[in-house]
Amino acid sequence: MIDTKGKVYIIGGGPGDPELLTLKAKRIIESADVVIFADSLVPPEVVEFAKEGAQVIGSKELNLDQIMDLELAAVREGKIVARVQSGDPSIYGAILEQMRILKREGVEFEIIPGVSTAFAAAAVLKCELTVPEKSQTVIMTRMEGRVDMPPGEQLKDLAAHGCTLVIFLSITRMTKIVRELTSSGYTEDTPVAVVYRVGWPDQKVIRGTLKDIADKVRAAKITLQALIIVGDAVDPEIGGGAVSHLYSADYTHRYRRAQKAGSGTQVSGNGKG
Ligand SMILES: C[S@@+](CC[C@H](N)C(=O)[O-])C[C@H]1O[C@@H](n2cnc3c(N)ncnc32)[C@H](O)[C@@H]1O
Repeated sequence: MIDTKGKVYIIGGGPGDPELLTLKAKRIIESADVVIFADSLVPPEVVEFAKEGAQVIGSKELNLDQIMDLELAAVREGKIVARVQSGDPSIYGAILEQMRILKREGVEFEIIPGVSTAFAAAAVLKCELTVPEKSQTVIMTRMEGRVDMPPGEQLKDLAAHGCTLVIFLSITRMTKIVRELTSSGYTEDTPVAVVYRVGWPDQKVIRGTLKDIADKVRAAKITLQALIIVGDAVDPEIGGGAVSHLYSADYTHRYRRAQKAGSGTQVSGNGKG
């Protein structure tokens, strides 16, 4: 156990654009004594707010023990540590093992959420991931690779839902992804977008369908730091544009009465959208 006033903040650094940091994340980075950032996915601009004299360390060549040694040495001296990770730390952030060690050592820590690259990519695509009548469910997942998937979570199992899929960590397995999805529920004309390095100056967007996306990604030579978004939500105007009731003038909910009746019947709901 460490007797200290030091503290570790595990911070969601967002997709890469420093303007997508939360105000809280920025404030903590500005005041931290030690900033350890995941420099494989977080550009230095995100931590350039560190105060003069702060130790700023990239973690891409460090293993967990080395990172934790740095964190624990700092908190032992009563220092504030900002551990800055990409997107939101709760999504493939490998924070569980860090938190176990911090808990074991009795070190106070706090998690500051960030903008996941899933949401930054949706913004760049100008798409709503949950489109009425098309998809009301979003699955964030990955393709099996060095990490085994738990039972029932293979891509072909998830494909049965036909909803919006956001696929992380899998851009090098495009051909297999397409094969699994088309053999288990999605048609070849399902829209797909690949967003490479969203929030970085060299961001790229590739749009296509399950039929042609693998070739397009290969031609663009994208082999890392990309998200794959699959489903009608990527191109919601295909087959007619559905609309949500939530802001419809003929829809009554807890906070607003309908102003006009649509087809003679007044729609009502619980205000949850
Ligand atoms: C270890 S996960 C981290 C995810 C992160 N915690 C989040 O909430 O977005 C790394 C994967 O996230 C995606 N990713 C991370 N940064 C990205 C970016 N700037 N643009 C597109 N995808 C990115 C890629 O799929 C990459 O393989």
